[in-house]
Amino acid sequence: MQTLTVELEDRSYPINIGAGLLRQHSLLQAALPAREILLVSNTTVAPLYAPAVRAALADRRIVEVIMPDGEQHKTLATAGRVFDVLVANRFGRDALVLALGGGVVGDLAGFVAACYQRGVDFVQVPTTLLAQVDSSVGGKTAVNHPGGKNLIGAFHQPREVLTDTDVLQSLPERELQAGLAEIIKYGMICDLAFFEWLERNIDALRKLDPIALAYAIFRSCQIKAQIVGRDEREHGERALLNLGHTFGHAIEAATGYTEWLHGEAVGVGLLIAAGLSQRMGKLSTTDLARVESLLGRAGLRTEAPQIGAARAAAFMSVDKKVKQGRVRLVLLAGLGGAYISGDYADDALEETLRERFGA
Ligand code: NAD
Ligand code: GLY
Repeated sequence: MQTLTVELEDRSYPINIGAGLLRQHSLLQAALPAREILLVSNTTVAPLYAPAVRAALADRRIVEVIMPDGEQHKTLATAGRVFDVLVANRFGRDALVLALGGGVVGDLAGFVAACYQRGVDFVQVPTTLLAQVDSSVGGKTAVNHPGGKNLIGAFHQPREVLTDTDVLQSLPERELQAGLAEIIKYGMICDLAFFEWLERNIDALRKLDPIALAYAIFRSCQIKAQIVGRDEREHGERALLNLGHTFGHAIEAATGYTEWLHGEAVGVGLLIAAGLSQRMGKLSTTDLARVESLLGRAGLRTEAPQIGAARAAAFMSVDKKVKQGRVRLVLLAGLGGAYISGDYADDALEETLRERFGA
């Protein structure tokens, strides 16, 4: 097992990563010291992995909320049902919320934990690759609103993240590939050597090689933990973690959040961000081709849907990074050299959007 710490003074917490961690009762018992635990999972994950949690915590009172599977259930209505269960079971401020699932379960359970009695402890046991390398770390919790994704939320850090790489064995391949996009993102943001490692090991990752997986998850979490430790509330540097996301969100929104997985849209978004950087003379043509090749080898789509440049721009204009009416973009000054700026050439952006999304 490898352990990392997210350094946030008195809210610092460990991320434990390894194979078979859910089978180690002592680890779960140490991560979940409360007597009363609310387990939040979904109808897909609970049958697979809740038995291991129940077995490890046989001496505790565990109340379970098993939500339906899907992003469409990451809502205030579902959160309301979880609050109802907490209240009905008279959970106090010493309650602990355990999120067992992917990013949907983690975001919703974390949001409930942030709000219930003004904040109770929560622990993340992420079960998708995307959740293991991104959503379980950093304390962003949220539910969706009909007006937009993640509009209702709070920063609330978990007290521990327990990442068992064995659970990825049951993950559908498409979900694995979506997680690979976020891993590639970290290399592109700030670690050329990691990007090069991914070029050498992408096939091993797709085959779920345990050593390669453990390293990719560890390095991704390490990069995210360092950035979150310096800028927890996204006043600056943390926005770099959104590389590719402004374009990706436009794809998700224009296609109704059903056709594209978040990670798939981010993958194409990474390519568009790289393409714009190349058009601006900040990234070489060779490096742009390397990005496209790695995404393709990860099994990800590299063609954006033909939603039209104007429509893409309209969705981009409601991005959370808009400042004084101008979308700030995460761009690349070389692989591993991401920066955020509103100072880019409008014609380069327009040409890039037309090239990728159609006129
Ligand atoms: P998800 O939670 O919907 O999981 C994807 C699918 O995999 C679901 O059908 C799920 O039931 C299934 N699944 C999960 N684990 C499994 C396993 N081990 N075996 C078999 N099936 C399994 O999607 P996701 O990609 O994990 O997360 C996406 C969500 O995360 C979005 O809501 C996004 O907004 C959020 N997110 C949050 C952050 C953050 O910082 N908080 C960062 C990135 C994404
Ligand atoms: N997923 C981006 C962030 O946590 O800031």
